Amino acid sequence: MEKRPFGMKGKPVPEIGQGTWYIETGDRKAAVAALRRGLDLGARHIDTAEMYGSGAAEALVAEAIAGRRDEIFLVSKVLPGNASRKGTITACERSLAHLKTDHLDCYLLHWPGSHPFAETFAAFEELRQAGKILSWGVSNFDVDELDEALAVAGEGRLACNQVLYHLEERAIEHAVLPWCEQHGVAVVGYSPYGHGSFPSARTLGGKLLQKIADEHGATPRQVALRFLLRRPSLFTIPKASSPAHAEENAGAAKIVLSEAELAQIDQAFPRGPRPRSLPML
Ligand SMILES: NC(=O)c1ccc[n+]([C@@H]2O[C@H](COP(=O)([O-])OP(=O)(O)OC[C@H]3O[C@@H](n4cnc5c(N)ncnc54)[C@H](OP(=O)(O)O)[C@@H]3O)[C@@H](O)[C@H]2O)c1
Repeated sequence: MEKRPFGMKGKPVPEIGQGTWYIETGDRKAAVAALRRGLDLGARHIDTAEMYGSGAAEALVAEAIAGRRDEIFLVSKVLPGNASRKGTITACERSLAHLKTDHLDCYLLHWPGSHPFAETFAAFEELRQAGKILSWGVSNFDVDELDEALAVAGEGRLACNQVLYHLEERAIEHAVLPWCEQHGVAVVGYSPYGHGSFPSARTLGGKLLQKIADEHGATPRQVALRFLLRRPSLFTIPKASSPAHAEENAGAAKIVLSEAELAQIDQAFPRGPRPRSLPML
C-alpha cells in the first residue's frame, strides 16, 4: 500500500484507510475481523470519532487494534459542541480511554461549531505538547473556514481537512482541494462510496467503471477509489463491516489507471458547478 505524506509536516500514511461510522451496529465479530483484515493488507489508517455510536465505534476499534497500535495511524474527532478549551481536553481523554491507547496520531474538529477556533486549537496544542495527540486537523471545513483556521493557527499546523468526496460529489475540487494543496494540508475524502449509494451497474457511469475494472482485473469500487486518489494530496477512508469488503477496498492499492481512463471517469461523473453558497475566488 502506498504511503503519502500527511500534509506539509506529516509522516507517510497509507493512502487507503478504514472508516468506522456505524461499524458498531452490525455483527461485531465480523467488523473487528474486517478492520484487522484491512490492517493486514496495509490499510493502517483508521478513522473514528466520539460521535460514532457515542463511543461504541471507538471501543470496537480498540478491540481491532489490540496488540498492534504502533503500526496504525489512528484518527478521532471531537464533536463541535464539546470543542471548548476544557471540553476538547476532556473529550480527547474519553476517546483515548475508549480506544485503549495513550495517544492519537491525529485529532480533528468534526465540523465547525460555535466554540471559537482559538479555543479548540489551543486545546489541540496543549494535547500535542502533552503527547496525547501527535497532530491535529479539521473536518467539513469550507474555504472561508479554512482561511479563518489558518489565521488562528498559522501555517503548518493543520494536518488535514476531512471532507465528503466521491464520484457523484466532487464539490471540493472547486476550491477546498486547491486551498489544501496550496497550504500543505492533507485531504481525507470520506464516504467514497457515497455512504452506501455507489453508482448502479445499470447506469452509464456504472458501466464505464465495470469496463475499466475488467481491463485491470479489478472491481468498479476499486476503480472509483483509484480515481479519488489521483492527486498526491488525497486519502480515502471507505468503511467496511466484513473482511471481504475490507479486502476489496485495500486491493485498490494495486491498480494503476491511465490518464485516458481517469479522463473517461472525469467525464462520466462530472464535478458540476461550484456550489452557490461558496464565495467565488
Ligand atoms: N468527517 C465526517 O463528517 C465524516 C462523515 C461521514 C463519514 N466519515 C468517515 O468516512 C468513513 C466512510 O464513509 P461512510 O461510512 O459514510 O460511507 P462509505 O465508505 O462511502 O460507504 C460505506 C458503505 O459501503 C459499503 N461497502 C464498503 N466496502 C464495500 C465493498 N467492497 N463492496 C460493497 N459494499 C461496500 C459498506 O457496507 P458494509 O458495512 O456492509 O461493508 C457500507 O454500506 C466513515 O465510516 C467515517 O469514518 C466522516
